[in-house]
Amino acid sequence: MLYRKLGKTGEKVSILGYGCMRLPVFDGDPAKIDEKKAIELLRYAIDHGVNYVDAAYSYHRGMGEIFLGKALKDGYREKVHLATKLSCKRVNRKEDMDRFLNEQLEKLQTDCIDFYLLHAVKKSYWEKLKAFGIIEFLNSAIAAGKIRYTGFSFHDELDVFKEVVEAYPWDLCQIQFNYLDENFQAGIDGLRYAAEKGLAVVIMEPLRGGNLASKIPEEARKVWDRAKTKRTPAEWAFRYLWNYPEISVVLSGMSEMEHLKENLRIAEEGKPNSLSTEEKT
Ligand SMILES: NC(=O)c1ccc[n+]([C@@H]2O[C@H](COP(=O)([O-])OP(=O)(O)OC[C@H]3O[C@@H](n4cnc5c(N)ncnc54)[C@H](OP(=O)(O)O)[C@@H]3O)[C@@H](O)[C@H]2O)c1
Repeated sequence: MLYRKLGKTGEKVSILGYGCMRLPVFDGDPAKIDEKKAIELLRYAIDHGVNYVDAAYSYHRGMGEIFLGKALKDGYREKVHLATKLSCKRVNRKEDMDRFLNEQLEKLQTDCIDFYLLHAVKKSYWEKLKAFGIIEFLNSAIAAGKIRYTGFSFHDELDVFKEVVEAYPWDLCQIQFNYLDENFQAGIDGLRYAAEKGLAVVIMEPLRGGNLASKIPEEARKVWDRAKTKRTPAEWAFRYLWNYPEISVVLSGMSEMEHLKENLRIAEEGKPNSLSTEEKT
């Protein structure tokens, strides 16, 4: 596993992070996590160097954090940086922010969340949270030792992204980015902007939720067929991302051991600026 510095925090994080939005489930029901299989996957990842775990209040209909509280027992909590998110959608009054954070600490069975992010920020959520005093809330949660670092995940346009970046001394942001989404939402300009402002960047949906491994765009297939180097579709997608020095962690939601093992293998080689000019074009 390779590690990178997480922006100004100075923390060293694995370049592959475990996204907990797509854990294995029974009967296709997100609330029914196959805990045995999910624990095996998560602990295998941690045993092989993954030290960044990404959750959210809403994942698996609220069961994801409860699962993680159990999965990170037996010393695994101490081996990872745990990230989770405040559900912007569910905050309807000032008191909700404290209430949700306390509930999350309890579900996760931890005293402190390493990275606390606002979930899926967009203009309307940002305006709502500002009005409820989100900045004071974050400062007081840090002062109380309930969270260590702050950030936000983002789903809106670039101008909103810049506004949010500038509004608070965030430690990190989480954006959707992959070789097809260079100009989607925050995009490549947002990635560079955040890095210039000292925020670490965490990537979500590197395979567009799996589509870049299963439904390969014709254009990409043609380029890969011409390339001298032969790689799997997932490998091209991850190597494209890790080539950016501005990116600290790439999250993937893995529910199959085969995929986890492949991604761990690819992560061994994901050095910044490691693709040749030919491979990039
Ligand atoms: N904050 C937000 O607003 C937000 C939004 C989206 C995502 N996220 C976070 O970001 C994480 C990553 O996003 P994502 O889950 O969409 O990641 P992703 O890597 O784009 O997609 C995961 C899917 O790709 C498949 N996959 C993974 N590795 C593969 C491989 N080597 N070959 C073939 N298929 C492979 C997985 O299949 P299997 O399950 O069968 O292994 C899974 O279905 C999420 O889990 C979540 O933690 C946050």
